[in-house]
Amino acid sequence: MTVPSLASSLSDSVTASAARLGMADLAPQLRRSAHADFQADGVLAAARTLRRNPRQVAAEVVAGLPDDGLVASAVVAGPGFVNLDLTDRALLAQLIRRLGDDRLGVGTPETGVTTVIDYSQPNIAKEMHVGHLRSTIIGDALVRILEHLGGTVVRRNHIGDWGTQFGMLIQYQVEHPEPAPDDTGTMGRLATLYRLARAEFDTDSAFADRARRRVVALQAGDAGTVAAWRNIVAESTRYFTDVYDRLGVRLTDADTVGESAYNAALPAIADELERRGVAVTSDGALCVFFDDLRGPDGEPSPLIVRKRDGGFGYAATDLAALRQRVAELHADRLLYVVDARQARHFRMVFDTARRAGWLPATVPAVHVAFGTVLGPDGRPFKTRAGDTVRLVDLLTEAVDRAREVVAAKNPGLTGAALDERAWQVGIGAVKYADLATNRTRDYLYDPQRMLALAGNTGVYLQYAHARVRSILARADGGHTTVDVTATLEPAERALILDLDAFADTLAEVVAGHEPHRLCGYLYRLAQTFTTFYEHSPVLRATGPQRANRLALCHLTGDTLRTGLHLLGIPTPDHL
Ligand code: ARG
Repeated sequence: MTVPSLASSLSDSVTASAARLGMADLAPQLRRSAHADFQADGVLAAARTLRRNPRQVAAEVVAGLPDDGLVASAVVAGPGFVNLDLTDRALLAQLIRRLGDDRLGVGTPETGVTTVIDYSQPNIAKEMHVGHLRSTIIGDALVRILEHLGGTVVRRNHIGDWGTQFGMLIQYQVEHPEPAPDDTGTMGRLATLYRLARAEFDTDSAFADRARRRVVALQAGDAGTVAAWRNIVAESTRYFTDVYDRLGVRLTDADTVGESAYNAALPAIADELERRGVAVTSDGALCVFFDDLRGPDGEPSPLIVRKRDGGFGYAATDLAALRQRVAELHADRLLYVVDARQARHFRMVFDTARRAGWLPATVPAVHVAFGTVLGPDGRPFKTRAGDTVRLVDLLTEAVDRAREVVAAKNPGLTGAALDERAWQVGIGAVKYADLATNRTRDYLYDPQRMLALAGNTGVYLQYAHARVRSILARADGGHTTVDVTATLEPAERALILDLDAFADTLAEVVAGHEPHRLCGYLYRLAQTFTTFYEHSPVLRATGPQRANRLALCHLTGDTLRTGLHLLGIPTPDHL
């Protein structure tokens, strides 16, 4: 059994006391406070509902708190808040329990729950851009956290590997058969092919016709055309895999199930929607309409399942994928980590699937939306020439800058060791900057700020972790047997309470699919540790005090490391 946090034990005590007073469902609404360890706001609200004097109700709740050694003092404050302090002994006993638990108090509440998560999703023959970076990083963090909580996670890299653009790409290749340069790991050749084919398609109508016939050949399964398509997909996929390796994210080829995988299922999707009356023909196209979704002109704006020419698109594919994820992969939860600009698409897809009976009410489907990455000018991040910034260039730049930061701090570090450290810091900085803001917000891509040693950055947290490790190394393993009879200083209390909140924080992250809550937690923890370290000398302390403080260092180091790993951020022992 996982030991609950002090906050949740305390919350239970308050609830129990209130229940004895006839307030059966009082939510204590505990939060950390500057005036005490915790403040409970919930009594005030409950008393108001009961039309009773809040201070009096609060006094009764306080009087009824169990005498179990947890609460040192409970005082009614303000209009009816309760300020609660815990006993030193309870805090130290909790510290001992956490030290003996390599899970750091984190349970496995996701056991038996299958999540299918759709993320990264780059497009074949196109460069990955910052939008794909966000999806990849946020998705990777959610995967790690859900798995850490015991969940079964099925990753789906829903790559854009189908569509009319392949007609143009293949046709151009057929007409310009120069030998393909062997450049595994770069997108160069395909990006050029895309540009040239597009230009010809837009200017030469005869070529455009041949390209369209090529699409028909591809759809009809013409062997040569399909082989050419497969080659293009394979070349792009090798490139994506290389980027994933560089990023250190857990996506493999086995997780890639592109749009084309659902082709065979599309006609049945359309038939079934039509038969059930969910979709109707309008203007020759098969459409699903929604009462509350209208275009700017007030006209209903439908989800198009089948186009007028009989072709299927993005929406039909998503419906087929969703149905398969529920029916065959037995998803208990569906997550889609996709740009916020696709909110409407996902609302329509989820709604259609519910109406069709493919998405039971018990299975939540969530569009884990994210905002736009902005450039220094505050507009969507582009190169000076107005092109999308290539992901690889951005990562290379971050690692190069990180190399300077690392080299300045460690003049002795050179060669492969310096490269490795630069990678850990550079990639960590990019990921942390992305994860640390509420994902629905836009954020400014600022390589200089994300590599600052002070402030809410990945480097700061990596540094905090390395510092704890170095303290522990200097203490030479000094023993960490906690003495529960010791008296705690305020900075020590604060640190124990922060450490104890790790599991509760992860539960919040999962509830809202919000990795930034873990970032905020780790940042506060690092700051609390710094204050503790300034006020409570560790290495110069002696006896039980030294042992207790070393124990705090241990637990802080382990919590920072585990937390950063759950975000996909490396934790070197030195920085
Ligand atoms: N490939 C798409 C894009 O780059 C994103 C796909 C999102 N996933 C999905 N199941 N629709 O915009």
